[in-house]
Amino acid sequence: MRIAVIGFGTVSKSLLKVLAEKSKLILNAYGVEIKTVAVFKRDGAFINNNGLDLERIVNSQNYRNEVDWVNSADFNKLAGELNCDCAVELTPTNVETSEPGLSHIKTALEQNMDVVTANKGPLALYYPELMDLANQVKKRILFEATVAGAIPIFNLVRNTLRANKIISVKGILNGTTNYILSRMTSEKLPFKIVLKEAQKLGFAEADPSYDVDGIDAAAKLVILSNALLKQECRFKDVNRQGIKDITPEAIELARKDGFLIKHLATNENGVLEVAPRLVEVDSSFAVNGSLNVVKLQTDLAKDLTLIGRGAGGVETASSVLNDIIEIAILRR
Ligand SMILES: NC(=O)c1ccc[n+]([C@@H]2O[C@H](COP(=O)([O-])OP(=O)(O)OC[C@H]3O[C@@H](n4cnc5c(N)ncnc54)[C@H](OP(=O)(O)O)[C@@H]3O)[C@@H](O)[C@H]2O)c1
Repeated sequence: MRIAVIGFGTVSKSLLKVLAEKSKLILNAYGVEIKTVAVFKRDGAFINNNGLDLERIVNSQNYRNEVDWVNSADFNKLAGELNCDCAVELTPTNVETSEPGLSHIKTALEQNMDVVTANKGPLALYYPELMDLANQVKKRILFEATVAGAIPIFNLVRNTLRANKIISVKGILNGTTNYILSRMTSEKLPFKIVLKEAQKLGFAEADPSYDVDGIDAAAKLVILSNALLKQECRFKDVNRQGIKDITPEAIELARKDGFLIKHLATNENGVLEVAPRLVEVDSSFAVNGSLNVVKLQTDLAKDLTLIGRGAGGVETASSVLNDIIEIAILRR
């Protein structure tokens, strides 16, 4: 299967490294060969019709000097000439316009490619439209990495809970806020100090609003709700409250009664909400650090809880690569 990767950042480089390391294993295990023929950045792309040397481009010190580098190459313009089966969209998430990801996904579908993405923006804003377009052109969009990074939630439901109805979903979907709340609890420190510490350690962005105001978690909740609860909804449908106003005093009061404060994303009875909530100290949501939790209530299997890493290049690449392999197997 020939793939084009759009984006050459943290997730993409991890994916390309893993692809370079494991392509023989994947061929032996599943009988599929994954050939990367293009990798796009903002200012151009690596393109080689016979397959790129992935190790070489990932380790390149000066990408513009690489033999396969093409200045100003743009996926939307070149997609028709690449002869690719699958586009892997790994550009930054944007929940205001969802660009450039939205255009890349539409272009890929229109050019007869399946799509794998880790980018939440297009699905948080246009899930129904994108799935309709994919159905019209008889292509797939797989998006395991958009929610809870390495946790295989959509695959689990698609392949292992086939006859189940998903009744509700509840999760800790943002590692940064969980890290901040965990540190505020263990060290009895105020939000602002812990946020600065998280920024120094690289757990939080210079502009932390995307995480601490619940924007990231809300985008993920919308994707879970559309995909698993079959509820047509959008980012604007989420009632959202961040964690900025939580004080060490509130955390201490909760602790005395046997509770922790966690930033939960829930869809219960069709109501989408991201907000700080009390959880019992021994509940499955009482996880520390940057871990994510997803709890599903189902009609047959009843309750299932998954805990794992919600971010990180290799962790996210694990989900992206699994989706790519699934598409390659389905296309065989
Ligand atoms: N990092 C994680 O742990 C994680 C976890 C789950 C999901 N995700 C999602 O995965 C996606 C990628 O994340 P990341 O951390 O890898 O991001 P990143 O490090 O910021 O990399 C983004 C890449 O996209 C490229 N890009 C931006 N606009 C482009 C355009 N118009 N055409 C082609 N390339 C373009 C950038 O190009 P330049 O190199 O030229 O700047 C950059 O290489 C995001 O949507 C993110 O939300 C990330």
